[in-house]
Amino acid sequence: MIKKVYIKTFGCQMNEYDSQRILSIFEESGYDRTDDPEEADFAVINTCSVREKPKEKVKSEIGRLKRFKNSNPYFKIAIAGCVAQEDGEAILKENKSVDLVIGTDGIPKLYEAIFRVEKGERLAITEFYHDDFTVPIFNRNSSVSAFVTIMKGCDNFCSYCIVPYVRGREKSRHYKEILDEVKFLVDNGVREVTFLGQNVNSYGKTLDEKINFTQFLYMATQIVGLNRIRFVTSHPKDFNKDLVDLVASESKICEYLHLPLQAGSNDILKKMNRGYTFEEYEEKISYAKEKIKGLALSSDFIVGFPGETDEDFEQTLKAVNEIEYETIFAFKYSPRPGTKASSMPDNISDVEKANRLKKLLDAQQIITDKLLKRQIGEIQEILVEGKSKKDTNVYSGRNRKNRIVNFTSEKSLQNGEIVKVKITQAKKNSLFGNLEVS
Ligand code: 5AD
Ligand code: SF4
Repeated sequence: MIKKVYIKTFGCQMNEYDSQRILSIFEESGYDRTDDPEEADFAVINTCSVREKPKEKVKSEIGRLKRFKNSNPYFKIAIAGCVAQEDGEAILKENKSVDLVIGTDGIPKLYEAIFRVEKGERLAITEFYHDDFTVPIFNRNSSVSAFVTIMKGCDNFCSYCIVPYVRGREKSRHYKEILDEVKFLVDNGVREVTFLGQNVNSYGKTLDEKINFTQFLYMATQIVGLNRIRFVTSHPKDFNKDLVDLVASESKICEYLHLPLQAGSNDILKKMNRGYTFEEYEEKISYAKEKIKGLALSSDFIVGFPGETDEDFEQTLKAVNEIEYETIFAFKYSPRPGTKASSMPDNISDVEKANRLKKLLDAQQIITDKLLKRQIGEIQEILVEGKSKKDTNVYSGRNRKNRIVNFTSEKSLQNGEIVKVKITQAKKNSLFGNLEVS
């Protein structure tokens, strides 16, 4: 009988990418994928520790999964990702039902680990590997859009952030290896890639060859059959004009930038160790808005950082109103063990953090509504990603600004097609339209 593996992924897109790598190693070890944990023989929880209550989430997942051990004595549980990296062996000690703990750098060790766990061992693999960061080509569920990790780790040490501790030092992947992966994906039907890194603007710094992110992106635009390129995350301090100029001139690179500001107050930005002032950020944004036609912006924000006063928070609101992002992701500050900010008094009450978060999201919703309404009447380029289950004449895809667009079409369309859609309605967070028949 074929063994089955189930995976549950928390957190960022890099974790999604790692989950696909993990699944492909299980496949090579004789497992089929399943979305139903009940029929699985191995369950993997790929964890995230960036924000609130990660450990509680992992505990409740373990609680949910361990009952399957009663009906299947061979059922194994693995904890992967950032919580695994952070807590290592302790997870095995505290949770008798966990068989394997595998940290963020441990994926290449998984072949051996699966074999040993199947034989009854319990183990934790949490070393960091400092040699080159390479990822061999792997199989994944083909879709029209794919994430491709181009670097790992982070050296920025923003004072609130656990990533440098759980993902280790920054290391870039060799550009030839990445481009080969993209070509492989394109040969398998992928039309859009999103390049991933904690700070893509410093891509190449750890490589022997002299190459920077802009040069790398240009090479990616030359791949035949690839229609769209996106990237996250740009760090404002390293984001430069060369990159803006390339986005402006290369039609394959989507006019969408995620540039996390985090806070509008210079005092808070300093305490966060972000390496830029609001004015410096604003100058870069103005240049990008001026150069890139139809640019959509998005950002991350943290509210209630230690010492954030009402005035500081007002600066964040002001920044959001001034810059007019199409989307923001905002979070209540949550102290992460071992980070510099965790030794600053977390002096904003949870109620106050929640108030500020609501105010910020309400202000943003007004802007999102306005920016989406403005797109009514436009003819947009949509990458078809699927069909509505409810209405067979309704398709779903994304525009170049990464916004979901649902649209009607009398004509039958294939996933991966790029079509023109006339936008007729703006919903809360998506757009609606009709296929433009030429
Ligand atoms: N508390 C709240 N939000 C955080 N983020 C990172 N660390 C924390 C923390 N300790 C947010 C930042 C980052 C996003 C991925 O998560 O806004 O950009
Ligand atoms: Fe964390 Fe800052 Fe690195 Fe982003 S740049 S991963 S926020 S330390």
